[in-house]
Parts: sequence; C-alpha cells; structure tokens
Amino acid sequence: MMASAFAAFSRACQELAPRSAVVLGSGLGGVDAHFRETASIPFADVPGLVPPTVHGHNGRLAVGLWQSSPVLLCRGRLHFYEGHPREVVTGVACIAATLGVKQLLLTNAAGGIHPSLDPGSLMAIRSHITLVGPAAWRTLAAGCGLRSPYSQRLLDQVPELLTGVYAALTGPCYETPAEIRALTASGADAVGMSTAMEAETATELGMEVLGISCVTNRAAGLTATTLDHSEVLVNAKLAVKRLAEILGRLIAMNERPNP
Ligand code: HPA
Repeated sequence: MMASAFAAFSRACQELAPRSAVVLGSGLGGVDAHFRETASIPFADVPGLVPPTVHGHNGRLAVGLWQSSPVLLCRGRLHFYEGHPREVVTGVACIAATLGVKQLLLTNAAGGIHPSLDPGSLMAIRSHITLVGPAAWRTLAAGCGLRSPYSQRLLDQVPELLTGVYAALTGPCYETPAEIRALTASGADAVGMSTAMEAETATELGMEVLGISCVTNRAAGLTATTLDHSEVLVNAKLAVKRLAEILGRLIAMNERPNP
C-alpha cells in the first residue's frame, strides 16, 4: 500500500468535503462525462480495499467536481463473488460515511425480470431481496430499522423512473431460467450481483441511499438468446446518458443550502 498516495487523496477529500458519493457499476464508466477529477487512487492503495478482478471494473476511488458539486466517485466495485467478505464489499460505503458523505448513489448493471424493463432501461430500487452467500434471505436491514434501505425521499426525486425490487444474488454465473421463475414469483423485478450489502451498510451508517439498476439484458430464460458479458457492456451504454443526467440532478440537489 502507498501511504503517501492515500494521504494525498485524503487531503483532497477533506478539502472538497463531498456530500454525495456515486458507485459506478459494470460498463457504466461513460456516466462520468461531467465529472472533473481532483485526485484519485486505485483500490489497492486504500486501506480496507483490494484490487477488483472483473473485466469492465477498473477499481479506483476519485474525488472531484460533478458539474460544480464535490463528489466522491467509485469507478468499479468489489463483489462478494470475487471472494471478498462483507467488510470489503462494503468498504467504499464505510469510507464515504467517514468522509461525511450524506447520500450514496449506487448504480449497477442488472437483468430485467419485469416485462417493462427492456434492455437499456433504468429502474430505481424500491427494496431488495438478499440472496447473497450465507446472508441469503437474511438481510441486515435490521440496522435500517427494518425498513427498506433505500431512501423514499431520494426515490421521490426521480419520479421519471420505474421503481422495483432488486434481487441480489451471489453470482458470478447468470441465473438459470428456473431461478428467474422463482425470483419472479418472489416479487423481484431485476436481478444482479451487487448493491444490496452496500445499501444496507450505508443506511446503517446514516447515509441516504438511492440504487439505480441499468437493465442490460432480459433475465435468463425470458428470451431465446444466451447471456454474455459483452451484451451487458454494450447495452449499459444505451442508458448511460440518461443516468448521467439523473445523477447530476441528485448531486446538485444535495448541495449545502446557502447560508
Ligand atoms: N443477472 C445477474 N446479474 C446481471 C445480469 C443478469 O441477468 N445482467 C447484468 N448483471
């Protein structure tokens, strides 16, 4: 670990004092067109984080301005399926809370289960079903006062988006068609392999959380085609411009009120 790199990054964070943090999921790199970086650091140089292993996730923490608002931006994330424990998967949420971030905007790539969720559409997460590793059906929402970890106040700020339930599975394989039928019966609208643990921890730490799923494909068995990661990356780009506008608006709305 490079202690000096981390010290320089921490100083930039303290100077900018971001009130919003954004985690960019698979293939969503282009969302940050309006972000101007002040400082950044690879996950490997951040205490508590490790380098990511997934193609399309570059694993850097950056701080800078989104239009004119200070933001902590996480390019890529760490997943449970990479073999990391919950403490590592939720490390960025902990860092954001420590820096005084008030709202965490989590984005992900997801498979669409609900018929309205065409590839390229966006879904605001109303609640989730945790099916990740040993925590399956054992959400840690107790830390959120047994409510959904997603902020209703932030959901109200994105009235243009469909809202739905996100099922978080361990992965890394996509689901079988039978699993998707089971998830459909359980009330899931979209399926992915991230976000749930981060959202629970962030809410427990007192941040407001909004999760936005970028639907990159119809979930397994809902079309005749086979799923692959290159399809995920191509379709993610379709939603990037809309997602960037929405994030920009939320970040601007979270600025300090004028004294
Ligand atoms: N399943 C799980 N995770 C995903 C999918 C999917 O269909 N698409 C993108 N991430």
